[in-house]
Parts: sequence; structure tokens; C-alpha cells
Amino acid sequence: MIKINVKHENRVTHKTECLIVFCAETAKPEGDLKKTDSLLKGAVARAMKDKRFEGKLNQTLLIDTLGTVAANHILLAGVGKKEELNLNKLFQASGSAAKRAEKAKCKKIACAPLDSSLSKKLGAKKSSAYDPASQAVAEGLHLSLYRFEVYKTKKKGDPEPVRVKDAVLLAASAGAAAGMKRGAGRAKIVADATAFTRDLQCHPGNTATPSFLARQAQAMAKSAGLKCRIVSPPEMQKLGMGALLGVGRGSAEPSKLILLEYSGGKKGQAPVALVGKGITFDTGGISLKPPPNMHEMKMDMSGGAAVIGALQAVAGLKLPVNVVGIIPAAENMPGSRAIKPGDILTSLSGKTIEVLNTDAEGRLVLSDALTYAARFKPRAIVDLATLTGAVLHCLGHHASAVVGSDQDLMDQLIQSGEKTGERVWQLPLWEEYESAIKSDVADLKNIAGPAVMAGTIMGGAFLKAFVDDVPWAHVDIAGVAWGDEKPCAPKGASGYGVRLLVNFLENAR
Ligand code: BES
Ligand code: MN
Ligand code: ZN
Repeated sequence: MIKINVKHENRVTHKTECLIVFCAETAKPEGDLKKTDSLLKGAVARAMKDKRFEGKLNQTLLIDTLGTVAANHILLAGVGKKEELNLNKLFQASGSAAKRAEKAKCKKIACAPLDSSLSKKLGAKKSSAYDPASQAVAEGLHLSLYRFEVYKTKKKGDPEPVRVKDAVLLAASAGAAAGMKRGAGRAKIVADATAFTRDLQCHPGNTATPSFLARQAQAMAKSAGLKCRIVSPPEMQKLGMGALLGVGRGSAEPSKLILLEYSGGKKGQAPVALVGKGITFDTGGISLKPPPNMHEMKMDMSGGAAVIGALQAVAGLKLPVNVVGIIPAAENMPGSRAIKPGDILTSLSGKTIEVLNTDAEGRLVLSDALTYAARFKPRAIVDLATLTGAVLHCLGHHASAVVGSDQDLMDQLIQSGEKTGERVWQLPLWEEYESAIKSDVADLKNIAGPAVMAGTIMGGAFLKAFVDDVPWAHVDIAGVAWGDEKPCAPKGASGYGVRLLVNFLENAR
């Protein structure tokens, strides 16, 4: 993680390798940029006139200052149309700029204060304890520069790659600096948690076993001041978690149910329960997956990783809410003891499940976790799961899908998705879907039939049977947990869910 400081210093005299200047779509330099441009002898105006830089979102232009100001380079960073500016766009623009600066081999960077016409658009209130724009910029810097290099060995003599190490957010006034510092401090907490989630996603299945996830959650809980309890197979057996135990039966790795508790709210206030699918590797089991992309199934614990990361962030931010995290972790393997198609499991709820496809294992482990969640008497349950490949056909890598029992809860998640850029899109959960998972021999079957139709909704319909009377939302993150490179995320692990859940819990009604 880079070091970010806030300083009240003039942008013209601040010494840095690269000064980032955020700029909305425009045909010529405006506001503070106009003054800078005259020092640069019109270099910005020329770039705009020639359309080398138009201020489009995520567009950047690096200009050598040739000693006309203290910074070696000015990096223009487009934020798109001024009227449409929001914190998510600023976050992205900041990430794009940080990556561009690093590509230009800069170690020290700085961000000029936002033009007042831009900060006005972001509705930054002077009275607020922290500056949300600084938080967005700092989060963008941190998360765009994230890398996972745990398994890369260094050869002696290899040139050390140049990395951004320090950033300074320049404050326009001494008065503004305090709020900016608090914004940057919050960004560090959120970015650290997101990076933790990404790390968990990236570790291969032979490292990240259910026991590993449990140990990571315990270590996090200890340093963040959370309660953590791990339920192991003998206790699961006593409790009657036949569905979770069933999924882990084919693996030599023992399944773990990870329980995290954060009490930042009033004593006795009903908590929000966050449930995260924690399949540390999904081979499909006896209903084996085809080889081509099976290696990516190391990310099948992304929901669990997001819940663990979100709890770290919530504790760091000291949010005034009570939250429990519930992560059913197991490895889905074929083997002589593995569950087989046609097997019938008795879940913690007492409901029996005919397993028609062992590759629909996420809903099995989640069914017991959702039943267990009710013991905390939560005011709402939100589950995050890489549940279906079908969600990729619906929405690609650009949004998760939400279904649930409570429109207000889903609306809150959708709204948090808009604000954070971790988009959420609702699918229907009509009664007709629920009838498709009634089994002939048991209470439920884990897939509707051989023809996969509305797979994402069917997964949700199955889960609904394990939630009684509590507002509940199921977020299928199979499309968004792992993806292409984005301004603030590398190719692969996105850490999706941490920023979404933090925003949701900040506004939880
Ligand atoms: N973990 C997978 C879903 C998945 C697919 C996650 C692609 C990430 C990327 C899940 O356990 C699964 O195998 N789902 C099946 C369900 C089917 C058998 C009803 C699927 O989507 O094919
Ligand atoms: Mn599966
Ligand atoms: Zn799975």
C-alpha cells in the first residue's frame, strides 16, 4: 500500500515527479488549470485544441513541464462531463492517473486540489467530518496500484520495477486539510480491506483451504477487534448441518463454518447478517466441471472473502452497526466419499435436499449458513456468492444480480452499487420459479432439471426456502468477482463486495 499524505501547499511550488490534475470535459483550460497552463506556455491548451486530451473519463495526458513549475510532469486526468461527475468517476479517474504515472516510472506523485466547480458537483459539505472526494481519490490511488506477487520469486540481478510509493493530496487551504486527511484515512481502511479480499481470492486452492480461510479470518478478527468463532465438522455434525457437511465429504480438507461478530451498534440492536459462499475450490464434484477454465474456480470463495474484508473495513471505520459474518467454507471434490447425484441430504433446517448435480454446491453450503444466520435474530440477511455461471450470460462482468424477499433491502443494495460503482441489478423471483425445485423424493432438489433455464434465479429460489420472515437479499457475484483489468482493479480478483457492503452498512436503515 502506498503512503498518502495531505499537505497545504501550492501546486506550482510543490516538488513532485508527477502532479495529477483532474479535469472535466472541456475545449480549453478553465479555472485553476488556466493559470497552470500559462506557466506551461500553453501546452495544455494546445493538447485540448488538437484533441489529444478532451477530459473524457479515464483519459490521461502526461506533459513534461520542462522546469516551468516545481513538478517534473503534469498529468491531466479526465473525469468526464462536469454535470455527470460523481465520486465513483473521481475514484476511477484517480486510478487511471496512478497507473499512468507508474507507467511513466514516477515514484512520487501528487494530486492538485479539485477545482471548486468540480467539488461543488460532488456536494462536499464543509461541515462534514471528512472529505468524500479525498476518500475517492485516495481509494483510487491505492486500489489501482494493487498487485498480487506472493508467488513470484525474484532472481538476483533482476531490475527492481519502479513503483509509485508516495502520494500527496494538496489542500487548497489549511482549513480543508483536516477533512481531507480524514477522507484519506478512511480510504486506507477500505483499500486495505479490499486488498485483503483480493489476496484471499488470488491464493490458489492448495494454499487457500477452508482451514486457511478460517485462520485468516481469525487473525483479522484479532487485529481488528472482532469476535471470531470457527465451527468444525464434529460440531457441524451435532448441529445437523448435513448440506454443508455433504459438500465437503469428497475432500480431505475439513470444512469450516467461520463466524465473525462486530458490535459497533447499540447493545441489543438486531445485527445485519452477511453470508458469503466460501468454496475454496470447485471442481464440480462427481458432476465434474470441464477442464478449460477449472483453475479459475479457486475464486469460488469470493463471497466469503468479501464478507471477511467488509467486516475488517466496518471495524476499522467504527461504523455504528452490529454485523455478523457467516462463511460456510468447503472444498468441492470428487472422491470415494463424495456425494453423488441422487443423494439426499438433511439440512440444518430439517428440509431434505435431493442433490441432482454436485456442481450446484454453493446453494447447499449456503442453505445451512442461512438457517444458522437466523440464530442471530438479524434484521436483514445479505448473502454474496459466486453461485451461477448463468449470471455471466445475463450481465457479463459489469454487475452482480440480486434477488430477494424484501424490495427495500434490494433497493438499498442497488443504490450502494450505483454510488460505489460495484453495480447490482435485480432479477425477478416469482413464485413459479420456486415450484421448479420441488423434488419427487425429497423436499427440494438442488437444480430444476437438466435444461438450465434462468439459472441465476433458480439458485435464488432454492436459497429462499431457507429464509423465514427476515428481509433477505441474495447477490450473485459470479460475473464480477473475477474479471478484466479496470481502472482500479487488476485483471483477475476484483475484491467486489467490500466497498458495496461498507456503503450499504453506512446507510443501513
Ligand atoms: N461456482 C460455480 C459458479 C461459477 C461459474 C462461478 C463461473 C464463477 C464463474 C457454481 O458452483 C456452479 O458450478 N454453478 C453451476 C450451477 C448448475 C449446476 C445449476 C453453473 O453455473 O453451471
Ligand atoms: Mn459448482
Ligand atoms: Zn461453486
